[in-house]
Amino acid sequence: MAKKGEFTVTPWEVSGNVDYDLLIKDFGSQRIDEPLRQRIKKLAGGELHYMLRRDLFFSHRDLPWVLDEYEKGNKFSLYTGRGPSEHTHIGHLVPWFFTKWLQDKFNVPLLFQFTDDEKYLFKDKLTRKDTLEFSKENMLDVLAVGFDPKKTRMIVDTKEIATLYPHALDVAKKVTFSTAKAVFGFTNDTNIGSIFFTSIQSVPAFLPTIEKGKPVPVLIPCAIDQDPHFRVTRDVAPRLGYPKPAMLHCRFVPALLGPQSKMSASDPVNTIFTTDAPEEAAKKVMRAFTGGRATVAEQREKGGNPDICSVCQYLNFLFEPDDKKLKERFEDYRNGKILDGENKAYLAEKVKAFLKEHQRKREQARPLVEKLFEEK
Ligand code: TRP
Repeated sequence: MAKKGEFTVTPWEVSGNVDYDLLIKDFGSQRIDEPLRQRIKKLAGGELHYMLRRDLFFSHRDLPWVLDEYEKGNKFSLYTGRGPSEHTHIGHLVPWFFTKWLQDKFNVPLLFQFTDDEKYLFKDKLTRKDTLEFSKENMLDVLAVGFDPKKTRMIVDTKEIATLYPHALDVAKKVTFSTAKAVFGFTNDTNIGSIFFTSIQSVPAFLPTIEKGKPVPVLIPCAIDQDPHFRVTRDVAPRLGYPKPAMLHCRFVPALLGPQSKMSASDPVNTIFTTDAPEEAAKKVMRAFTGGRATVAEQREKGGNPDICSVCQYLNFLFEPDDKKLKERFEDYRNGKILDGENKAYLAEKVKAFLKEHQRKREQARPLVEKLFEEK
């Protein structure tokens, strides 16, 4: 549990001003350094995703091992997931876009888990029907990202529990209550389903090995708040005869209100959802917190601060993949050449165009998702 007074990062709560260096130290993960970036670039065919170039994916566990195995011809499997909620916000797309890039560049399979059980257990107000329905809606967003359907398998926990359960039992038998308390901060008031849950999230990290009958490296790209689950997974792996899954961690996309908060589905004015009408999303952008000054004159003279500007940070995380353009814009913003109104309008246009296209792909995926839910 990382509760540092200034900020909190757990799988169920992220708040405050996250100090990522401190988090790496606290969690015990490794920085992605330049030699490692160069190695990924080479193996990916000479190109590096902007999220790696910009240090948005900034931390890892055992990535060199996955790359060693890949070089020996032992391909890895990808695993990521989603705790379904009513709407997907665009911050959630960050690790998914990156995962798609990995899938494409390395030509590897992906397991995508929808933890409707988790959401039901951890959110008082939600019913099982709600969280199952959310899984379906969220799956549209996942498919809209464009994963290769032939190489992507989606698991909705309550629908495929028979696949997961025997292996979850193996995990659960190796995890004590005191470990769960130490890792997640559970108390005597925590429902017992929540205490068990991490066993379920562990299983897809082992499924490729179980199903192939030989050790398959698994790489998990995710936001760093999921790391506690996988520390447990990695801890039990050798005791069950499985390789430890490797991890790639990304930072949180700041909310429109500024760098102190990550975007959260429970904060609708402050968050852009993938299902927002493009015009409505554009209005949210126009109300965003910026790194600007109190008056135009002051901003022209002293400039703004892109590091704390949510508009600049959206461009950084999602909407300006061109490094040169981003750098120029940040410079112009810093020296007062670009003002907030113009910057917001620039982002708003990009957000609108993106949402239109994403929503089209989302609807295109609907028949497939309906079919998947009927079959399972
Ligand atoms: N617990 C995750 C969430 O709340 C969902 C999830 C399941 C996940 N398996 C994962 C996320 C693997 C990243 C990687 O969003």
